[in-house]
Amino acid sequence: MIRSVIRGSGSALPDRLVTNEELAEQVDTTNEWIVERTGIRQRYIAGEGETTSSLATAAAERALEAAGMSGNDIDLIVLATATPDQTFPATATRVQQALGCNGCIAFDVAAVCSGFLYALGTADSMLRTGMAKRALVIGAETFSRILDWEDRTTCVLFGDGAGALVLEAEDVAEDGPGVLDTKLHADGEHNQLLYVDGGPSTTGTVGKLRMKGREVFRHAVVNLANVLKETLAAAGVEAADIDWVVPHQANARILDATARKLGLPAEKIIVTVDQHANTSAASVPLAFDVGIRDGRIKKGDLVMFEAMGGGFTWGASLVRM
Ligand code: UT7
Repeated sequence: MIRSVIRGSGSALPDRLVTNEELAEQVDTTNEWIVERTGIRQRYIAGEGETTSSLATAAAERALEAAGMSGNDIDLIVLATATPDQTFPATATRVQQALGCNGCIAFDVAAVCSGFLYALGTADSMLRTGMAKRALVIGAETFSRILDWEDRTTCVLFGDGAGALVLEAEDVAEDGPGVLDTKLHADGEHNQLLYVDGGPSTTGTVGKLRMKGREVFRHAVVNLANVLKETLAAAGVEAADIDWVVPHQANARILDATARKLGLPAEKIIVTVDQHANTSAASVPLAFDVGIRDGRIKKGDLVMFEAMGGGFTWGASLVRM
């Protein structure tokens, strides 16, 4: 059977690291509050000249290097972002230009914090149906540019960064590697709990992020537990068979609660929220790359990706390495 096999991963962070203590000098917050309520200790913030496409390109170059490939080998780029360089063209086309793989398919997907799962599901479908052979799937964000830096309930939660995977379509055995199943959902009923108060067709401005955090939290735990169960059932796999969960890194308490609901030990969860904060669509591939490069995630491992974000949108994907 044809499956999308992960050939390499890469990630990139802005140069500037901002600690909770530094933030507490600007807004009415404390390191203790942020650590206790979220697990976040620091985040990276894009400086002048660092953009979603520059971070995405750096992550993509590292993923290509890990895969032993170059831009010329790629025939599909799917980039998930809610903070594109420009309203259009798609940030994926800027990455394409930088990598020198002009002519291949390149487009963005918008599903905010679940964007990477949507991008992965889309690329996987296109690879399995033969529309493309080798894909770059990227999650990249500069959320610092859409934060209200006077709103302590949101500005302490997010950071900037990018992560990328190279996927290749391969004919594999039933127990071979690749993306086994992806389940995606959206529920527009809740689109006012997490949104940006601007846009090209409404205010004509970029706008700032607004969130009712406590309500998002409540929905996140329920939706994530459900989609994880759904994905496991579709793949015919038990929770106990999972080697690693690579979750969207929004809040350490959401990670703990979701793991508890599935009966998964905390040691199986890759956690980077303390280092990167919430990098939206970048958080899953960033955390995955950390787990690959420090040697925790190995060939043959069963890895679960999951995320939930504005829309609401949510999803999960089970992959054998
Ligand atoms: O990536 C997309 C998905 N997003 C998420 O999953 C985010 C989900 N939500 C969360 O992670 C949490 O709800 C937050 C971290 C956003 C907030 O934690 P919480 O435990 O739900 O706190 P809360 O909103 O209920 O606020 C508790 C108190 C409030 O004060 P009062 O009303 O009790 O006096 C807030 O005003 O904490 C106050 N507060 C702060 N205090 C110090 C809110 N933000 C801060 C802050 N520093 N930065």
